[in-house]
Amino acid sequence: MRIVLENIKELVQVAGCGVRFKAGKEMASLSVLRNAYLVMRDGIIEGFGPMKDLNDETLDNDVLIELDCSNRVVMPSFCDSHTHLVYAASREQEFTDRIKGLSYEEIAKRGGGILNSAEAMARVSEEELYDSAMRRLHEIAMQGTGAVEIKSGYGLSTATELKMLRVIRRLKKDSPMVIKATFLGAHAVPEKYGDDRSKYIGKIIHEMLPVIAAEDLADYIDVFCDQGFFTPLESEQILMAGMKHGLRPKVHANELGRTGGVQVGVKYNALSVDHLEHIGADEIEALKGRETMPTVLPGAAFFLNLPYSPVREMIDSGLPVALASDYNPGSSPSGNMSFMAAMGCIKYNMSPEEVINATTINSAYAMGVDGICGSICAGKMGNVFITKEIPSYSSIPYHYATNLIETVILDGQII
Ligand code: NIG
Ligand code: FE
Repeated sequence: MRIVLENIKELVQVAGCGVRFKAGKEMASLSVLRNAYLVMRDGIIEGFGPMKDLNDETLDNDVLIELDCSNRVVMPSFCDSHTHLVYAASREQEFTDRIKGLSYEEIAKRGGGILNSAEAMARVSEEELYDSAMRRLHEIAMQGTGAVEIKSGYGLSTATELKMLRVIRRLKKDSPMVIKATFLGAHAVPEKYGDDRSKYIGKIIHEMLPVIAAEDLADYIDVFCDQGFFTPLESEQILMAGMKHGLRPKVHANELGRTGGVQVGVKYNALSVDHLEHIGADEIEALKGRETMPTVLPGAAFFLNLPYSPVREMIDSGLPVALASDYNPGSSPSGNMSFMAAMGCIKYNMSPEEVINATTINSAYAMGVDGICGSICAGKMGNVFITKEIPSYSSIPYHYATNLIETVILDGQII
């Protein structure tokens, strides 16, 4: 089955084929074709080019759908490389408590936060968990996301971590989205372990990981390596154990303090280090020339009133940067990547070109799908969206709270 998009005002290809991510000054460049066509066949991008090259042969037999994209922009779907969108319940009470003056860390110390989500997770049935996560997936698909990484980490016991990961496996099978699963057993230490942190860490390493590996339930391993959560030493132990089972690290680092999370990620060749609200020259230096994608989560900084990461400095020092939503009930209850792109421009001083690179090809790299998503290239997946009538791609971050997406195509099918 073929779909042909015609008269596209701006086809945002993003990057040349073979580009895995963009760093430093390259982030300011964007490949854009004007007055273009795009053909997808059986879920895969077959070709694209200027309208004048669209001949009758291309339109011949087999074309089921022709879409006129006059005055519209076509983009590769966003890739959201960091979410926790499988969760049992929202957390409005903590939202209100923070408005009244409590901090995220104070709430966590009182057994709220991640531990609150873990309690709800223990009660919810797998079916309910699956249904609510599927609804969230559909919500973000309609907001332009075509690939998403989803973490466990609201289970914190073997049975509930497995429940979450099995739900993610079902989502992978049933959804047209590209999905990667990350095991985040080291998200918090459950209260019942008291000071015996090593007992819980032992459980992650010796009980959870072997089953997860045997059942092939995760693609990556993550640790919340931060002030008040896991120390660098504990994180190293957990990451090493995950790597022995073939799981590449992705690390939650430097959200609450400068406790060495970035350096731990770099040391273990993490695919990404994420958050980075508290970083300085040492962390930037550690990331230079590495294969680890620095990933910034504007939703969490916005929602928790954290300092904004020094993205300008990072890019100006030659680093790549990816943006992701961190969609979760505690620190970013939104998976809207257009909004993340808008925040990139407004709060981090990135240009529209930089935020588009950061939410497509760079975030595709940060979740290990740059070979199939993140740019318009022949052979990549037919995951794109068509905007409403707009003057240019810059309208997407400019209209920061307006949904400008009119048509979503995933796996070569209109959703
Ligand atoms: O990425 N920082 C750690 N984990 C999540 C939030 C978890 C929560 O509060 O539920 C994050 O922000
Ligand atoms: Fe997170």
